[in-house]
Amino acid sequence: LPPLRLGIAGLGTVGVGVVKIIRQKANLLADRTGRPIVITAISARTRDKDRGVPLTDYAWEDDPVALAKRDDIDVFVELMGGSDGPAKAATETALANGKDVVTANKALLALHGQALAEAAESADQVIRFEAAVAGGIPVVKALTEGLAGNDITRVMGVMNGTCNYILTRMQSAGLAYDEVFEEANQLGYLEADPNLDVGGIDAGHKLALLSAIAFGTKVDFKGVELEGIQRITIDDINQAADMGYRIKLLGVAQMTGRGLEQRMSPCLVPDSSPLGQLEGGTNMVVLEGDQVGQIVLRGAGAGEGPTASAVMSDIIDIARGIRVPTFGKPAKGLAQATSAKASAS
Ligand code: NAP
Ligand code: HSE
Repeated sequence: LPPLRLGIAGLGTVGVGVVKIIRQKANLLADRTGRPIVITAISARTRDKDRGVPLTDYAWEDDPVALAKRDDIDVFVELMGGSDGPAKAATETALANGKDVVTANKALLALHGQALAEAAESADQVIRFEAAVAGGIPVVKALTEGLAGNDITRVMGVMNGTCNYILTRMQSAGLAYDEVFEEANQLGYLEADPNLDVGGIDAGHKLALLSAIAFGTKVDFKGVELEGIQRITIDDINQAADMGYRIKLLGVAQMTGRGLEQRMSPCLVPDSSPLGQLEGGTNMVVLEGDQVGQIVLRGAGAGEGPTASAVMSDIIDIARGIRVPTFGKPAKGLAQATSAKASAS
């Protein structure tokens, strides 16, 4: 088989992680796919930046849209972030120019996933996004492939590591929200716009993507009832602990008789439960299927290695010729989501 040629836009935490895996594991990747996986061209905002990995072998494009059009790439790997602007323009360009797309960008897909999935389908291309939900946890593949023979009854979980870090640290160190928020900031955990994390928006994006796959509906981020963790006080945490509970930013999606219920909000979970015991920046996703019962997936939701691992799984699928529709079924066949107001459970 000919090499699979990648164009990578975005050389930050995740992009550099992907470049390292492709450089360091070339033989393993070729063994597992039957063909070499090579980087042809790259793009980022700043060309002359030491990123701790050699990049001079690859063609450089200042403009990710130009990268997405290049004849010498088969897959456009979008690792810039942002729901609009260059990420959206370059992804659309890649599809229109006959490239498959791999992205880690939950904001882009939560807001434009349906249109992009339709564009991919019309162009006979695929968009894969394992890294966009719960970092290193292969939850997208669990839903689209491993559990494809099930009716999914419920999806829930902790999907934002930064919020989980803040809430567990408040409890373990007895610190106020503002103090731990500042600590998270110093540690570089917060998104450039911290409201994406603490406002529950990032986790809401992820839940909306999982709901679309689980329930066969169009991505409905606006239908997610959102509440962040900004108003959680140390008193709330202590009162919950006195009753044997912990507070977690928990997402729940289920189909009810009234429509799709999606909620991302601080919830009480029993201290002794697996969700209650989830510490630090870790994520946990619980999937329930009518045949399989309950599946619990736990692992690193962010960071260079775990997120690059998920990006690579999509690239490897494409190299193997595995072509799964974006949300697990034909984009035009996805139903319009009817939102039901969630009730506390
Ligand atoms: P990052 O460290 O901020 O890196 C972003 C990269 O994109 C940088 O290399 C930047 O260039 C480049 N970039 C930004 N705007 C650009 C533009 N207009 N043209 C060309 N390049 C541009 O971000 P990241 O953490 O790697 O995240 C990348 C994506 O993965 C995002 O969608 C994020 O939500 C998602 N993700 C991240 C994680 C994680 O743990 N970090 C986990 C899951 C998903 P410069 O370096 O030159 O500034
Ligand atoms: N800000 C996100 C988190 C990054 O804390 O989980 C990974 O998506």
